[in-house]
Amino acid sequence: MSDHSSTISSRPTSDQATVEILDPRDDRDRLRIATLRDDYAVRVTDTLAAQRTSLGEVVPAPDNHDLHDTRWVFYPWRSTLVHLLGPSGFRRLRLDRNQNKITLAEDAMLRTRRIGVVGLSVGHCIAHTIAVEGLAGTLRLADFDEIDLSNLNRVPATVFDIGVNKAVVAARRIAEIDPYLTVEIMPVGIDETTAAAFLDGLHLVAEECDSFDAKVLIRDRARAAGIPVIMETSDGGVLDVERYDLSPDRPLFHGLLGDIDAAGLAGLTAGEKVPLALALLDPTRVTSRMAASALEVGATLATWPQLGGDVALGGASCAAAVRRFGLGLPLPSGRVRIDIEAALDGVHDPLDDLPTTPPPTTTPPIPDVAATFGSLPDAEAVAYAASRAPSAHNSQPWSIAIDAEGIDARIRETGPPGTTDLERRMSAVALGALAHNMEVAASARGRLGRTTIREDGMRVRHEMGAGTDHRACDIDLVLRRATSRLPGDGSPLGPTEVEALTAAGAHVHVLTDRTRLETCAALLGDSARIRHLTPALHAETIGARRRPGSRDPDTGVDIESLGVPVAARGMLDLVSRPDVMAHLEAWGAGSALGGPTTGVARSSSALLAISVEDWDRASFVRGGMATEAVWLRATALGLAVSPLVPPSLYAADDEERHRISPSHATALAVIDRGLRHGFGLAEDAPVAVILRVFRNPTPVPVSRRRPPLA
Ligand SMILES: Cc1cc2nc3c(=O)[nH]c(=O)nc-3n(C[C@H](O)[C@H](O)[C@H](O)COP(=O)(O)O)c2cc1C
Repeated sequence: MSDHSSTISSRPTSDQATVEILDPRDDRDRLRIATLRDDYAVRVTDTLAAQRTSLGEVVPAPDNHDLHDTRWVFYPWRSTLVHLLGPSGFRRLRLDRNQNKITLAEDAMLRTRRIGVVGLSVGHCIAHTIAVEGLAGTLRLADFDEIDLSNLNRVPATVFDIGVNKAVVAARRIAEIDPYLTVEIMPVGIDETTAAAFLDGLHLVAEECDSFDAKVLIRDRARAAGIPVIMETSDGGVLDVERYDLSPDRPLFHGLLGDIDAAGLAGLTAGEKVPLALALLDPTRVTSRMAASALEVGATLATWPQLGGDVALGGASCAAAVRRFGLGLPLPSGRVRIDIEAALDGVHDPLDDLPTTPPPTTTPPIPDVAATFGSLPDAEAVAYAASRAPSAHNSQPWSIAIDAEGIDARIRETGPPGTTDLERRMSAVALGALAHNMEVAASARGRLGRTTIREDGMRVRHEMGAGTDHRACDIDLVLRRATSRLPGDGSPLGPTEVEALTAAGAHVHVLTDRTRLETCAALLGDSARIRHLTPALHAETIGARRRPGSRDPDTGVDIESLGVPVAARGMLDLVSRPDVMAHLEAWGAGSALGGPTTGVARSSSALLAISVEDWDRASFVRGGMATEAVWLRATALGLAVSPLVPPSLYAADDEERHRISPSHATALAVIDRGLRHGFGLAEDAPVAVILRVFRNPTPVPVSRRRPPLA
């Protein structure tokens, strides 16, 4: 027979708080199980099948041993034999819904903690909450007192517990929640003779004694042993934390009572201790009902009042402190008030926060792009069409100027480049698209001249001439080109469509093979996950989103254009939060973050990569020109287009990938290589952009731009 807990009582007690845990693989235990089952006075409860089914459903899946290991547990105070999963499977299933407020790794840490609770009235709730949440592997409980009917206004015991030691009652209750949790009980008060045994080996003590002497003694000895003490006073939600493990010389009670210790207290009379005990409570801040009631004790009241809710709150706040302590999270010494009454005094109507004149919920409509182009003189019209070029996050990383001979556009250097804009290669792609638009617009006006790329790709210039070419008719496409982030129908491209797209140049690589496309879609999804989990990339992406009514609508990406259904907008809000992403990163989780990108990529008719000659910026400008040419061709074919650019597309080597995402640089290298392989490119080939091309007849509106010459 295996006995899960031992009593460290200094005197024997007849109060039974220990269960028998019987292993059906053990011969003696099997005999005992049979005897108990044959005993007409013993009730048998067997819900093992349901427990197994539930355990089989937890994620990640439990191992086979956990599914098949079982025990019979005999509860003598209930005369009941219960069939349960074995210790490991039981804990896994019982605490499954803790995840990930408490992760499995954190659970393993908490399981090693030994926590003591002295005073099992308020302490009952503390011990119970610690047990329920699974915050300790061992609980040690001490109280000399027994449950009285008058305790049942605050201690969640029952009428069957009247007359039973309070530590025993708490231990029984915990055993009924988790028979495998080690609970040691000490049904005696804490005094000079028992303090050392109680504290021995504990990591933390929750002290909830009525006796002032015991409070001082426990702290005195806990300080000597370097064990932290917490206390909740069930009035105004006061929680005290004394970290003697971190500050071995810290005065007891934060020094609020001066330099008091157990030896000093011994010389004081009962009357002399009263002001000290009062000072501890801080009479200026106890709740007014508590203060007034205290003045009535001995007159109209037998003792001071305590409410069940206050005691339950004490359980919750102490358990939260134990959780922080157990996980090594911040928990400094000090006092905090978690005052529910004060919080309820502050109930606030959110409607009062609404401004009297509501903010605009819509953004003014985009002016008619074609009409605007038509109304402008030649140079301004060319500049206007240039500004319709695509750019990452619609950042429009350019400034455009007109002079007597032509139009000049340069990459803006007002701030440092974005994290993914390495050597401003990404901006160069946008500048190239702009250059292509200038040529189309100049041609449409019969003013086609010569485009030059200058200053290492930081600048493009179109000298206006008097020419025109076949691209003149593309001006309509320039003015209605848009990024569509909607899903496609996955239907393949026809040969004429492929031919039309590749006719734009040898640098266009069309991926239609389903298997390769699926592989690339998964890699793109993973890159989206990394974009979310890397703080700088996440901040840039979220910072570029524009909501209806935004004060800065002319740059950035309108959330309406993200293709997220209104019902899923709440998810967008969750995903926008850096604190949420930080948790997923810490847990090595977040696979769902890539799902939408993988999904839309898979729904494409093809993925296109536009490769460039070299890693220098001017090559990326040329790549941008090719990108815009292909995008316009796709638009002419009635195909929808959206760039899907992994964050490291512009990283030439591992050092640059490391700059983008130090913790995911290796994964990014795998993605970069995999994508290039998918397109049949060399693994370090420079690529201007990856586009997904798909069919979805739903028109998407063109996006906004800053005034081109601002
Ligand atoms: C170099 C570059 C990278 C881009 N990357 C993405 C991307 O990864 N995902 C996306 O949805 N759009 C991407 N875009 C599209 C831009 O967000 C879009 O061009 C911009 O918001 C302006 O909208 P429009 O193309 O509809 O005019 C990219 C555009 C460029 C030029």
